[in-house]
Amino acid sequence: MNIVLGITGGIAAYKAPDLVRRLRERGAEVQIVMTVSAEEFVTTTALQAVSGRPIRSNLWDKEAEAAMSHIELARWADIVLVAPATAEIMARIVSGAAPDLLTTICLATEAPIALAPAMNHVMWNNPATQANRELLEQRGIHILGPDTGSQACGETGAGRMLDPETIAATVCGLSVGKGKGALEGRTVIVTAGPTREAIDPVRYITNRSSGKMGYAMARAAAAQGANVVLISGPVNLPPPTGMHVVNVITAQEMFDATHEHVGNADIFVAAAAVADYRPTHVASQKIKKSKETSRIELVRCPDILTSVAALKRAPFTVGFAAETQNVEDYARLKLEDKKLDMVVANKVGDGVGFDRDENAVTVLWRNGRQEFPAAAKSDLARSVVDLIAQNFQAAQGADTEPRLTVLSNLD
Ligand code: CTP
Repeated sequence: MNIVLGITGGIAAYKAPDLVRRLRERGAEVQIVMTVSAEEFVTTTALQAVSGRPIRSNLWDKEAEAAMSHIELARWADIVLVAPATAEIMARIVSGAAPDLLTTICLATEAPIALAPAMNHVMWNNPATQANRELLEQRGIHILGPDTGSQACGETGAGRMLDPETIAATVCGLSVGKGKGALEGRTVIVTAGPTREAIDPVRYITNRSSGKMGYAMARAAAAQGANVVLISGPVNLPPPTGMHVVNVITAQEMFDATHEHVGNADIFVAAAAVADYRPTHVASQKIKKSKETSRIELVRCPDILTSVAALKRAPFTVGFAAETQNVEDYARLKLEDKKLDMVVANKVGDGVGFDRDENAVTVLWRNGRQEFPAAAKSDLARSVVDLIAQNFQAAQGADTEPRLTVLSNLD
């Protein structure tokens, strides 16, 4: 694995030699790219000694560029890891600015990017940094940590860089290298977000789904090498790159789009919160208020998940079960009733589940279950997709039970 390790100017940069050593122990080739301010915290001599390669820092270094240009470096990388990642580098990557070698590589690479943020806890919690974190995650950049605890400034809170062993294990465990994914060549359809069912030209019925979990599942499947078709209801999320996105509004449109693509699918993941009912009649003009009470008659929407699971040549089918109570019992019923291969169950309501960045789920299948504790939806999605890939492969004919995913580095 070829890793471009970007080191930026935070006190945690002193841990970089240890991180390089741990990455190399796992067989990685590490090319260090430092920012100017990183050189205030750690010496190039130490880093050159542990990495065994000349350190790169200057975009205008003619000799180094002649040996391997910044574009070649961006292509050489199987992953670009920035550790420590300051608030500054996060903001620059978000904006697409590329004033130095490291940011240029981040812009020019097609490899996955992982950032291990490290900063004062107030800086980490600043709305600007949090907005940047969210945008980076939405674009598929892996955010590792940060950890919580005592900080170099003497204060306590979230913002410590994860320890080098955890970062090395996580980065080397991300099976996102070029052509190495567990779902390489497979086609995965993911539905995400809510649907909208019109009442009249200005009103509709919908729900609180943000689409974040479905989008994270789609990105995690793409990172595992899958060809992903993301069928999305109306959400406020930027369209992810590296996959085919189909935008729909209603349950019927989502049903139609799913059946248009499902013939080629190996795996179907129904993460959308599809309306169960829609108004029987959609008024052609805005409904005016008149009586004290009013009724809207509803009719059932097609159940997309059930219809896919019932196909003669059904793909490996994964449903979601969002419940406010008896989560696991209801989810297991769904697994059996809808004839699913797996179901991802989570509790919703009371500020849990919907429209949050974190989630905790229990995944159930016929002979097993696995709990995933609360974690960022992007991390959780990676773990759940790993588990889906293992069960899918087992269902393809392997005679062994699927391995259990180890979550150690991801929560
Ligand atoms: N689903 C679907 N099409 C629908 C409704 C739901 O594909 N019309 C999928 C969802 O994407 C999710 C799962 O089915 O994967 C949810 O199951 P469901 O039993 O419909 O959940 P609820 O709507 O919560 O059902 P209930 O109210 O009966 O608990």
